[in-house]
Amino acid sequence: MSIDYAERIPNNVNLANDRTLQRALEHWQPKFLDWWHQLGPHDFAGSDVYLRTAVGVDAQGWANYGYVKMPDYRWGIFLADALPDRKIGFGDAYGQPVWQQVPGEFRSQFRRLIVTQGDTEPASVEQQHLLGRTCPSLYDLRNLFQINVEEGRHLWAMVYLLHAYFGRDGREEAEELLARHSGDADKPRILGTFNEPIADWLSFFMFSYFTDRDGKFQLKSLAESSFDPLARTCRFMLTEEAHHMFVGDTGIGRVIRRALEVMKELGTDDPAAVRRHGAIDLPTVQRYINFWFTSCLDLFGSEVSSNAAVTFANGIKGRPDESQYEDHVCANATFPLEVPDGRGGVATDTVPLRNAMNEVARIAYAKDCDIGVKRWNMAIKRAGHDFQLALPSLRFRRSIGAWAGAATDPAGKPIARAEYDRRLPDWLPSESDRAFVGSLMHPVREPGKMAGWIAPPDRGINNLPVAYEYVRLS
Ligand SMILES: [Fe+2]
Ligand SMILES: [Fe+2]
Repeated sequence: MSIDYAERIPNNVNLANDRTLQRALEHWQPKFLDWWHQLGPHDFAGSDVYLRTAVGVDAQGWANYGYVKMPDYRWGIFLADALPDRKIGFGDAYGQPVWQQVPGEFRSQFRRLIVTQGDTEPASVEQQHLLGRTCPSLYDLRNLFQINVEEGRHLWAMVYLLHAYFGRDGREEAEELLARHSGDADKPRILGTFNEPIADWLSFFMFSYFTDRDGKFQLKSLAESSFDPLARTCRFMLTEEAHHMFVGDTGIGRVIRRALEVMKELGTDDPAAVRRHGAIDLPTVQRYINFWFTSCLDLFGSEVSSNAAVTFANGIKGRPDESQYEDHVCANATFPLEVPDGRGGVATDTVPLRNAMNEVARIAYAKDCDIGVKRWNMAIKRAGHDFQLALPSLRFRRSIGAWAGAATDPAGKPIARAEYDRRLPDWLPSESDRAFVGSLMHPVREPGKMAGWIAPPDRGINNLPVAYEYVRLS
């Protein structure tokens, strides 16, 4: 079904045929816009931004590009097309028809998952709402805003499900999604990472690379769900999400490329010299990676989780890319799990696979994260340097699960507590790292110009030149 743009809320769910639902969502719409005006990128409300807007949900040409003032963006409700005769792909009900309604016995589990996912979407807009003031280029400014409007649309996607399938509870949850705020002392966002401030663009690129990728894996798990409207919603969100990770991937890549240029120019890899020249040295990039990657690992939950076992068994949440596995029921399968042995070493526990689904997803996520790291390392090697970036171990600096609070080095080797405490500040961005990166954050607003700490992108958006005026500032 094509998207109806004549409606107040663009949609492909035939909203006009359900007046009650339509009225409820139209009632929520001005509250969303109020929120956007207060906690979104409000400094740029009058600017014309070259944005893509969804006009279809098929793989080919689903988006339209053009100048839009962000408050006029057409946030809508778009589900991927239904797959005919779709069957449940995992768990105890494997092979049975998928559900078009939420089964009563799973209602609260589904509601919690949808609310948790929904909460992250506006949280990231809030975290990033001042970044536009220090954009390194108009190209980057546009990408930030593209992500922001799409995270806003992802909130709409979850709010639609809450309104359409969860009655009054769902409507109340939709209100709460606008009442919690990132970093708020009284009403913070649900997940820790989404309360971390994003004060500089290096953090923004790290967030887009690591945290949006967590989003990708959560959406992949939910796209497997037996509750078909949730699966279809998440499938379409994944198409939008790809660009967010592209921004992070290329953003970090351009920071590294700039550092390499400066190292070549100066004939040294001394971090202090690179910094004096206004670029970000590679050890600082590594510390930011350590911080963001480990913070995101916790988003997958505990290694051993009865909750994960139940949601898998019940067909609520599958593994990312469930179809790549042979056994979709996993009733008797086991999983070898490395845990601290309590004596400063590592032991292997055997746990039921269903209980280890969080860890399965986390490992798939880490593998995906490593693809970019390998590419960045190639660039460093090609430039003739020995330095290698690396993802820290899944055991390092964890706050949740088997390794929570364990003292290990970034490679995951258990070390003495005193050594850990002493060395941890060297492994994470220090106050002075953050102050240095912050000192580079000055806006560059001339089309085609880049800040001195970042290389230009290889190409522009939608086949346009890099020097295109992607944002017409008001
Ligand atoms: Fe999102
Ligand atoms: Fe995203």
